[in-house]
Amino acid sequence: MDNSGVATLVKEAVDIVDVIGQVVPLRRNGNRHLGLCPFHQEKTPSFHVDAQNQFYYCFGCGSGGDVLSFVMKYRNLAFGDALRYLAERYNILLPEKEHNRPGHGGPADAARKERHRLYGVLRIAADYFYEQLHHSPAGLEARDYIARRRLPPEVVEAQRLGFAPPRWDGLLQHLRGRGVDLELGLKAGLLARSSRDTARLYDRFRNRLIFPITDDHNRIIAFGGRVLAADSHDEPKYLNSPETPVYHKGRTLYQLARAREACRQVRQVVLVEGYMDLLAFHSHGFFRVVATLGTALTPYQVRLLARMSDEVVLAYDGDEAGEKAMLRALPLFLQEEVDVRSVTFPAGEDPDDFLRAHGIAGFERLLDRRQDLGTYAICKILEGWDGSTGGKLRILTELQTVLAHVRRPLPRSEYIRLVCDRLSLSEELVRRELDYDRRRNPTYVSVSAAGALPKVDEVSSLEEKILRVLIKYPALIEEVKGSEAPAYFEQSTLKTIIQALMRLPATPGGSADLSIVYDALQDTDARELFARLLMESCELSEPEVHLKDWLEALTLREKKQKRADLDEALRQAVKNGDSERVKDILAKIQGLSSAGRRVRDLPDNL
Ligand code: UTP
Ligand code: MN
Repeated sequence: MDNSGVATLVKEAVDIVDVIGQVVPLRRNGNRHLGLCPFHQEKTPSFHVDAQNQFYYCFGCGSGGDVLSFVMKYRNLAFGDALRYLAERYNILLPEKEHNRPGHGGPADAARKERHRLYGVLRIAADYFYEQLHHSPAGLEARDYIARRRLPPEVVEAQRLGFAPPRWDGLLQHLRGRGVDLELGLKAGLLARSSRDTARLYDRFRNRLIFPITDDHNRIIAFGGRVLAADSHDEPKYLNSPETPVYHKGRTLYQLARAREACRQVRQVVLVEGYMDLLAFHSHGFFRVVATLGTALTPYQVRLLARMSDEVVLAYDGDEAGEKAMLRALPLFLQEEVDVRSVTFPAGEDPDDFLRAHGIAGFERLLDRRQDLGTYAICKILEGWDGSTGGKLRILTELQTVLAHVRRPLPRSEYIRLVCDRLSLSEELVRRELDYDRRRNPTYVSVSAAGALPKVDEVSSLEEKILRVLIKYPALIEEVKGSEAPAYFEQSTLKTIIQALMRLPATPGGSADLSIVYDALQDTDARELFARLLMESCELSEPEVHLKDWLEALTLREKKQKRADLDEALRQAVKNGDSERVKDILAKIQGLSSAGRRVRDLPDNL
């Protein structure tokens, strides 16, 4: 059964009035129910829920849909997650693929069982750390520390902060006492193996304040730990769980689920660099915030943010390191075409210091003055101009570090205009220089074989990236054939090429003959580009993973566009009181959300 089948199943099992009624007080009037719209501020109700047709509509802000689109919008969830959310709430048993069904003993089943056990161990560890913080003598120092950092009890409680005592076997003994297989503690990243005596295991987290890290389902998947003493220079200040089967650093952000809910009305999210900065925001009642966890931002994380918000505001430390980190993150946002801004804290202050001194009102004022990060970066580079002609060329080359990632015509032209103004050059000239420079310095970087971190392609569009990886790894072509992504290519030359690749017959072992594709291309532009891509192809560390990400991103882009069109049509139809058409459009919106994904792609954590 595919996703739309599952959607039907879920929709038949739940009542929209019940689902919405749990979060929005509704007044009944015949078959209609009326309330205050949760999606915009209003004093008189214009939010209608239609029990008979099972849809909702707000005459104030124009949002409308069925029960699934309500849950998606209200909880800021993706389609599959909304399905799972409802299924879980209403005890609906979703069908699963044969080999994935629990109890079938397949490999997916074994992996699921292991993850399940890991969640259990992590939960036990969290309870242990919590106990140690609140009820052990050793926890006193940590409680003092929390008081000094002015973390209010609500936050300490809500996050279930904990304390790892200064022992090598505190947690270890606790796990043993609970009958937990220590290998599992190792796998969960809680214990580490001694390098001298490999039979010996010990606690990874010692004498640290503990921050549990949770996933979208509020399960603990990892921990961060901070040293208490200000002067312990021989230890890293923060220690984080390693990668485990349930924790993928590049795919997680601290407090993502909480922020997702908080982004419901204002689709803007603040990104900070650390645990303490984030909790400082929570302490001030501000929840539209996530933090990276000691690793560089990844394209995947940027996409997570783009899904729940329309704008990301970086709030990094007000020092050189903070600024550098923001500028390093910029290309990721530009490549993913995500609106990114930044706020600047007074010199030397981090968000925690700032909030303590100026409160959330002070931060809101900073937020009002947030700047487009691309513009900020460009101005920064332009400031380095020494006034000479040679200097202009150097500046133009340096500007490529930003401009090479800007594909969209509008921001690109705005940025170029800024450059022209400052350097007193014509637009035509600047464009030609940038183009010339680009051909001279192809920026497509190859990934070092050893580097585990995916280095991001620095110039090419999503579409080009997909082509490059397929040309380098033709065995992957088969994987794309079933997907709709090729239909979403917009750039015509790239589209011609992907279509040609899709027509390539499958060969055993995936050793495709790409010269067939070349010969099949009629268009000279396409031939040239194809030849260039073939020449420039370079290694990637995990091609399938990248490909999957990029296909997903392309599909998301397409859906956003289609969704915007349908929303507009829905607004019109409702305005005209054309209820047939409203239903029709709602069905299309539904179809759109479920298209292209199958149940087997849903995470198996129901
Ligand atoms: P900072 O050193 O800026 O710490 O690291 P902070 O957030 O201001 O912490 P306090 O206020 O001193 O307690 C920022 C983030 O970088 C990661 C952590 O996620 C931290 O919150 N980090 C830092 C590490 O992972 N390891 C480290 O050794 C240091
Ligand atoms: Mn700090």
